[in-house]
Amino acid sequence: MLSNRATDTEKRKSLHGHWSSRMAFILAVTGSAVGLGNIWKFPYVAGQNGGGAFVLVYLLCVAIIGMPVMMSEILIGRRGRRNPIATMALLGEEEGKSRHWQWVGGMGVIGGILILSYYSVIGGWTLSYVFKSVAGTFSGAGAADVTAARDSFLGNWLAIGSFHTVFMLLTVFVVARGVERGLEQAVRFMVPALLLLMLVLLGYSINSGYFGEGLAFMFTPDFSKLTWDSVLAAMGQAFFTLSIGMGSVMAYGAYLPEETSITKSSAAVAMADTSIAILAGLVIFPLVFANGLDPADGPGLVFITLPLAFGQMSGGVFFSTIFFILLSFAAWTSAISLMEPAVAWVVEHRHKSRELAAMTIGLIIWVLGVGTVLSFNVLSEFKFLKGTIFENLDHLTINIMLPLGGLLIAVFAGWVLCRNSTADELRYAGTAFKLWRVLVRYVAPIGILFVFLKSVGLLPDLS
Ligand code: TRP
Repeated sequence: MLSNRATDTEKRKSLHGHWSSRMAFILAVTGSAVGLGNIWKFPYVAGQNGGGAFVLVYLLCVAIIGMPVMMSEILIGRRGRRNPIATMALLGEEEGKSRHWQWVGGMGVIGGILILSYYSVIGGWTLSYVFKSVAGTFSGAGAADVTAARDSFLGNWLAIGSFHTVFMLLTVFVVARGVERGLEQAVRFMVPALLLLMLVLLGYSINSGYFGEGLAFMFTPDFSKLTWDSVLAAMGQAFFTLSIGMGSVMAYGAYLPEETSITKSSAAVAMADTSIAILAGLVIFPLVFANGLDPADGPGLVFITLPLAFGQMSGGVFFSTIFFILLSFAAWTSAISLMEPAVAWVVEHRHKSRELAAMTIGLIIWVLGVGTVLSFNVLSEFKFLKGTIFENLDHLTINIMLPLGGLLIAVFAGWVLCRNSTADELRYAGTAFKLWRVLVRYVAPIGILFVFLKSVGLLPDLS
């Protein structure tokens, strides 16, 4: 029976084609992982949650929960070779368990749509700063000027709405053409270029005179500032930045060639992604302190600190333009992966063309995105539960749906798939495999559940 299954999987092909090489896959997943989460989100959530202790918890979550869950997603994807919904139904059945696991895939598809609805708005914001940079808006600007520029952009729903529209059109365009074409080239050039420019910025922030303060803020853990809510935020951030918990990586895994090592690919992606986030923090916090800004300022943090830095350096217009172009690219390659599970599902399940599927899903996401567009201006006072529409979407997806998705994916890989199936995909059965299995069977599910229950106050304090 088991050996039959193995040959079945070997023959199974994805409808959407396969990555041309191991490198192409690593680049695509890196393109998905590296995005606004690293450069826009990481610094501001770390800032809001007090710095050091948050960063430490985040790194721990990446290592002991994020990595194993990422490996699980890739191996599930490759074994099923379909969209996340169909893959989980198929594997659930094949292992003699239940087809109902498809609902986990379904939650992921919805999660991706919800995340992209606001991700696209921030992506559009990034795009608009390319134009502001070219126009020299930031040249010689002070803190008051860049803050005013940000506020006038956010206050103008037509401007944000237009850039949100452009960003969605760009995303639909690539997804409609198929993930392999174009994406590989874009990422191959974008990730190294982004890294290089971050290093230029790092040089600048080292010279800002406040590098020590930035370093201390990021790496001196003050556990008194750590609440269970910030632990949950750190865990959510780990999921978000690695693109896991909703099937993006699972969808990409479905196109992975048989011989590629899942462990090595995951490690490479996690390393690249974490380095870029840490680098972003090292660039931004010294600038925050040098300019007397508040690290807990929120979603506008990068859009204030970086223009300020660019405005004061020589060649600032050039660097600033390139930087926002690269960041838009990074956001674009992430957005594509947020849409892929839904589009793959529509293509496979509804037998629609890729173009039509991408346009339909794109339209739904665009409409939802209008809610976020308006939460920065017209509806900024319209608050419920966690705040504005944007804040609610952000909380629902990152702090609830992704950890829950990650928990269920870990349970699926650790308990539903039998030992042989996973050993077969991971191509080994030694100590590293045992470690992975302990992490997905016990550490990840219990850890996620614990943080979850703690943050909603369902577990009492021991002290
Ligand atoms: N990881 C991306 C970023 O850091 C965002 C992203 C892409 C994502 N695909 C995802 C987040 C899937 C969660 C799930 O910007």
